[in-house]
Amino acid sequence: MSKEAKEKNGVMEKIVSLCKRRGFVFPSCEIYGGLANAYGYGPYGAELKNNIKQLWWKKFVHDREDIVGIDGPILLHPKLWEASGHTEGFNDALVDCKECKKRFRADHLVEEFTGQDLEGQLEEMTKIIQAEIKCPECGKQNWTEARNLNMMFKTEMNGISEAVYLRPETAGAIFIEFKNIVDSLRPKIPFGIAQIGKAFRNEIVAKNFIFRLREFEQMEIEYFIDPEVDWEPLFEQWLQWQEEFALELGIKSNQLRRYEHPKDKLSHYSKKTVDTEFAFPFGTRGYEELFGLAHRADFDLTQHAKFSGQKLEYFDAVNNRRFVPHVLEPTVGLDRLVFASLVAAYAEEEVKGGKRVVLKFPVKIAPVKVAILPLSKKEELTKPARELFNNLKTHFICEYDETQSIGKRYRRQDEIGTPYCVTVDFETLTDQAVTVRDRDTMEQERVKIGELEVYLKKKLA
Ligand code: GAP
Repeated sequence: MSKEAKEKNGVMEKIVSLCKRRGFVFPSCEIYGGLANAYGYGPYGAELKNNIKQLWWKKFVHDREDIVGIDGPILLHPKLWEASGHTEGFNDALVDCKECKKRFRADHLVEEFTGQDLEGQLEEMTKIIQAEIKCPECGKQNWTEARNLNMMFKTEMNGISEAVYLRPETAGAIFIEFKNIVDSLRPKIPFGIAQIGKAFRNEIVAKNFIFRLREFEQMEIEYFIDPEVDWEPLFEQWLQWQEEFALELGIKSNQLRRYEHPKDKLSHYSKKTVDTEFAFPFGTRGYEELFGLAHRADFDLTQHAKFSGQKLEYFDAVNNRRFVPHVLEPTVGLDRLVFASLVAAYAEEEVKGGKRVVLKFPVKIAPVKVAILPLSKKEELTKPARELFNNLKTHFICEYDETQSIGKRYRRQDEIGTPYCVTVDFETLTDQAVTVRDRDTMEQERVKIGELEVYLKKKLA
């Protein structure tokens, strides 16, 4: 393993362990031995995830006049997935090791070992794997042929004879509401429909913590445009809006890069697809997909019109034109954003000969904003500290903690990324002031209790 890979793996391990230790992300169903690399969010992870969700909704729905939000169902008409091509073609290539029975993504194995991108070429992949690659798990070289597996989760619905699927992306639920949105809200083109919600993919291998999950959340927008306008400046603008959003979460611009899909790899309808990748702490590529942005032309609306028999068009009353809009699709996985924010926030610092671990989240996404800590468990301190907590918690997300030494409590708050700790000490009883400690600088300031709410509001604005 290269030095760089080892260093990256070190960070990965530290983050996974901190997430479990401090209640951000837990391996799911652990008491039953775990379930296929599934994860669940603990109290701080749920707060962090919700904060990211709300910021996205604010930036892309509430703060804009041209985008509306919806919340569609997970179970959708099976015809929708025929129209979108998922029933036929939402496949990944798998290959099994006949010795240890471990299953791998065939295209990923080839890419990792030879650097070649053979997506979709099953025969070529089989040849290379069988001739050149040893099983990463057991070291033997006895492979099945590479074959396709549809990634949609099948289920049943009473009263429906066909199989019904858990949606593999949220986009489908947006396209089928195009007509309802146009008829009920009469939006002026260009306009977007946004949605946040769960998506399910029966990934061949779920791995790398919360990067590749079988159940995950997406935040997607279908942005409908006039096919006759110059779309390239708008495409660039969307890339910038996605990057801006990443920066708001504390991600640094040098942790991001753009990857444009080569023209010969694009779907036949797509004019351009660019991924914004993040320097995730695993793998050999250095960067992996965080956001996607695709120009999908009129493929989806045309297909849904064909399969449903409904007209899916836009009437431009100003120019008296009727047309099928084209669409730009900005998309991002919420779990990947949570992961990237954790990586960006993670820091280790030398403090008085020791080490502190701190998550330097921007205040907007920090799970807890203020911790109230009485210096001792004596009632003369816990009583005013509780009163303070009861008042402050009506304004900020607060936590009250009276266990262990103050140093240990500071470290714990650093590790969950709390921007401010408020300590009630014996002097408080005489001077009616508390000590406010800043997470990043560790500087402490004495603030009068009567001025504390305004002080914190300013700091946390
Ligand atoms: N509607 C387009 C679409 O679904 P995608 O690139 O397949 O495109 C969009 O997925 C985003 O969803 C990705 O950029 C990624 O952030 C996230 N994503 C995809 N598969 C995922 C998985 N198995 N686990 C977590 N996030 C995933």
